[in-house]
Amino acid sequence: RERVLSGVQPTGQATLGNYLGAFRQWRTQQEHYDAIFLIVDQHAITVEHSPVALREGTLQMAALLFAIGIDPQRSTVVVQSHVAQHAQLAWLMECTATYGELSRMIQFKEKSKGSAMVRASLFTYPALMAADILLYQTDLVPVGEDQIQHIELTRTVATRFNHAYGEVFVIPRAVIPSVAARVMDLSHPEAKMSKSSSDRQGNIYLLDSDDQIRRKIAKAKTDLFNEVRYVEDDPERAGVRNLLEILAALNDREPKEVASEFQRYGDLKEATADAVVAHLGPIRERYHTLLADRTQLEAWLAIGRERANATASVTLSRAYDAIGYLAPK
Ligand code: TYM
Repeated sequence: RERVLSGVQPTGQATLGNYLGAFRQWRTQQEHYDAIFLIVDQHAITVEHSPVALREGTLQMAALLFAIGIDPQRSTVVVQSHVAQHAQLAWLMECTATYGELSRMIQFKEKSKGSAMVRASLFTYPALMAADILLYQTDLVPVGEDQIQHIELTRTVATRFNHAYGEVFVIPRAVIPSVAARVMDLSHPEAKMSKSSSDRQGNIYLLDSDDQIRRKIAKAKTDLFNEVRYVEDDPERAGVRNLLEILAALNDREPKEVASEFQRYGDLKEATADAVVAHLGPIRERYHTLLADRTQLEAWLAIGRERANATASVTLSRAYDAIGYLAPK
């Protein structure tokens, strides 16, 4: 069976963007692939963070993934720092990637902009992400559009390593959803919906109440064209396009087709809000139930850790041997 692997940072509140870009794919892919999902706490400390919030956020993210329908028996859900090989392989990746390659990463440019104290790890982050993926001989990496550049780099680095030292790694491919691979901010539809953004009105959080969801969608920015049409690549129509994509993705349909069923923006917004509420309500309920049983969550994470460790240690020793480390006796 092919292997699927992906990851999410346990900081901030997960958004509808995370759900449509990533989590939804994960849920279906676990049926067909050998699936590993990482809660990447090591990535979360590349920007200023609170230790207390990180620890809580990690457990909350686990509860959320299980609430969404990731099955702890079928899939391996792991906290990144529980498997030491991630950091160990990351060093080899830093010794394979180049400064120039890392300098071209858009996410680094965005996240470092205007900050006086940029952590060194924010720069080397894609090397750790490459390690996350390569450690498990991953075939497919289901992500939102914003992660494609990192996966391209992973492919480059893995290929270079294999050529230089011998075939150690499977070369992974990114998989993005056909609709809603980049969910936009509702109030600023030119920017992506992001759990780290400060405008809470433009973000739908997976744990928002029905009321909050309805209010935010009702206020979503549209345009003055006054027609419900799906037009790609027109920045002026980004708001309506975003609503159409959200609605289409939730109903497994095409945005163009969905557009033909509406005349008024108000009706489109109402239908979108209905669909979001219908999807997120049950998730929210399961989340609160799961979070109340901390012992169960920790037990599932312990199982994930054990399974992950078995695979990761095999790849790491092969990579160590290939690169020329002397094995300890
Ligand atoms: P993170 O935590 O920022 O996001 C988790 C997943 O959600 C997707 N996503 C979106 N998709 C569509 N529209 C949006 N507005 C939106 N916002 C977020 C992201 O593309 C991602 O798939 N570096 C990664 C985590 C990571 C990882 C990995 C992923 C670490 N190691 C190995 C895959 C494989 C990140 O910060 O995701």
